Amino acid sequence: MEDTKLRKDRREYVRGRLNKADAPENPMEMFDAWFAEWCETGRGDATAMTLATATKDGMPDARIVLLKGVESGRFVFYTNYNSAKGQQLDANPRATLLFFWSDHERQVRVSGEVTRLTYDENEKYFKERPIGSQIGALSSPQSAIIENREVLEEVVKANTDQYGETGPDCPLFWGGYAVIPSKIEFWQGRASRLHDRLLYTLEEGVWTLNRLAP
Ligand SMILES: Cc1cc2nc3c(=O)[nH]c(=O)nc-3n(C[C@H](O)[C@H](O)[C@H](O)COP(=O)(O)O)c2cc1C
Repeated sequence: MEDTKLRKDRREYVRGRLNKADAPENPMEMFDAWFAEWCETGRGDATAMTLATATKDGMPDARIVLLKGVESGRFVFYTNYNSAKGQQLDANPRATLLFFWSDHERQVRVSGEVTRLTYDENEKYFKERPIGSQIGALSSPQSAIIENREVLEEVVKANTDQYGETGPDCPLFWGGYAVIPSKIEFWQGRASRLHDRLLYTLEEGVWTLNRLAP
């Protein structure tokens, strides 16, 4: 696309507003309400979110993962613990989750410490997944360089021959992470780029709320 066309691609954001006085004390209440509204749109991959991590020496990285639970104030996703993101989280167990809900002209940013789920929790969810996904997780050395696709498919075939009926046990290298938020920012688009931003910060167990300039 030409630069001039890119620059002309603009719209006004007019669908909502955020009032600090009306905001709940606990940001999770607001997250739940906004997330439910987004899911009601019926959009595909409604649970997709950007997960940002950083390497030990501070190089940022980001990718999409699926939100699989918001439990006890924690945001849960599942992955391969040996993947690039897994290694980054081992070295630097902090992350930011980013949600963009275009229909509502909303963005939510969640940052905090990250912990692994327990093996029991991992296994419980692993077994809820289709057997094909279980075998996929077992077979893929996620983020490693592989010679070609055939190498992967051979491993999948061997694992399908062995575990196709019952599914494999949950591998130790696969499981969930929980992001425990210490900062949650809600952004609602407004006209003339004068957007509303409300930032919740957890201080000594209490959520503090501030309005940020757009
Ligand atoms: C819609 C969508 C959903 C995805 N969901 C997941 C997921 O839940 N877990 C996961 O490990 N990767 C998921 N991926 C793949 C990741 O974006 C990424 O390619 C992979 O996790 C390897 O990332 P890494 O090399 O940074 O570790 C998803 C990708 C897309 C586009």
